[in-house]
Amino acid sequence: MTNTFPQTMGQQFGRRSWAEPWKIKMVEPIRLINAEARQKAAAEAGYNTFLLRSEDVYIDLLTDSGTSAMSDRQWAGMMLGDEAYAGSRNFYNLEAAVQTYYGYKYLVPTHQGRGAEHLISQALIQPGDFIPGNMYFTTTRLHQELAGGTFVDVIIDQAHDPTSQHPFKGNIDLGKLEDLIKRVGADKIPYVSLAGTVNMAGGQPVSMANVKELRALCNRYGIKIYLDATRMAENAYFIQEREDAYAHQPIAAILKEFCSYTDGAWMSAKKDHLVNIGGWLAVNDEEVFDQARNMVVVYEGLHTYGGMSGRDMEALAIGIAEAVQDDHIHSRVGQVRYLGELLTDWNIPIVQPVGGHAIFLDAKRIYSHIPQDRFPAQTLAAELYLDSGIRAMERGVVSAGRDPETGDHRYPALELVRLTIPRRVYTQAHMDVTAEAVKAVYDNRENTRGLKMVYEPKYLRFFQARFERL
Ligand SMILES: Cc1ncc(COP(=O)(O)O)c(C=O)c1O
Repeated sequence: MTNTFPQTMGQQFGRRSWAEPWKIKMVEPIRLINAEARQKAAAEAGYNTFLLRSEDVYIDLLTDSGTSAMSDRQWAGMMLGDEAYAGSRNFYNLEAAVQTYYGYKYLVPTHQGRGAEHLISQALIQPGDFIPGNMYFTTTRLHQELAGGTFVDVIIDQAHDPTSQHPFKGNIDLGKLEDLIKRVGADKIPYVSLAGTVNMAGGQPVSMANVKELRALCNRYGIKIYLDATRMAENAYFIQEREDAYAHQPIAAILKEFCSYTDGAWMSAKKDHLVNIGGWLAVNDEEVFDQARNMVVVYEGLHTYGGMSGRDMEALAIGIAEAVQDDHIHSRVGQVRYLGELLTDWNIPIVQPVGGHAIFLDAKRIYSHIPQDRFPAQTLAAELYLDSGIRAMERGVVSAGRDPETGDHRYPALELVRLTIPRRVYTQAHMDVTAEAVKAVYDNRENTRGLKMVYEPKYLRFFQARFERL
């Protein structure tokens, strides 16, 4: 009989283990309700994980948005909130942090990312314009459409192939972009909408080489580049890991250099920045700034708070500095990768290579017998909850919505379930439990039949749609 010793995380995968650069000071109890109660909760939620009550969830991997644990320094910052209506000192701290770490000149605070998406879309897009980008994101594209624009996907083809091992699957295909410019004319393209990392592709990064080439191409045609910087610190980690010239550069320097090739950025601070609410728009162009700063008072709040309280802005300013620390990003991306390594070792189909914020289960391959109009990814997310109280999110045909022209479902190439890892919240044991739950659902795949949609809201249907089991 061979002697099988238990192995540490690192030993399992032939490397040294890493550990989180923090220790736990406060805990929030969680509990697993029984199978019957989960069945009832799932049915009441119409098999939509967005409609579950959080207290019925055991390990919550719905999103990494606003779910991070703040540090003791951020909590201390909350006590320094200057709740003045105008000119709060916390705003100036936030402005300085964005200027220091991202390098843009002007800052407009917003309540969260979509507030900033609204402002930049309204400021720059004219009806009939085209906005090329590296794969759509739900709220980003909707704001571009509401402003009268049409989003055009110009990401490299490998991004649509969950098995491709391309190291920078978030890259823009410059050939596709130039074809679009030639077809519609540069004056119909107000900006390129560049995201780092690309959420819907599996948290995949954009390379520094790609953004440099993009800048050169856009300069030739006089087109601006605006960055969705929501997970750009994580993107910087992949550049450090995968582009030789950046191997010895700190994350903070890589982030700032990347931003220097763009004209501005919007941010959902609820991700990289380790806060529960917040966002911003930052630009270099004074005219765009004036427009956005005027609009923010209509939709968000005064231009020195934009929907955030003073204490929120202080926690955010501190979170920006914490987000770019190399040891933080290493353990954050490392935890996601650990879960991915377990599932890969067990031959469970996931998007490869593993991205920055989440594991994306490939529902198309897991449920190859369920057609896309029976919502394989929605089904998989529901089954995972029923099995173990773990909450994940559909990122497939439900999230893609309907084509405004034809009214039909959009059928994306990727039909995925996202297991999104909140920052600094869960331990390695939670990752092990999650991996075993995914395996249990995977092993039961033959007995699963799909869902029927019985209620569909007009906008961003994935948030509120309801389903019945087939
Ligand atoms: C890439 C990306 N952009 C924009 C947003 C929108 O940000 P928010 O949820 O803060 O409105 C999100 C949020 O999920 C996102 O992941």
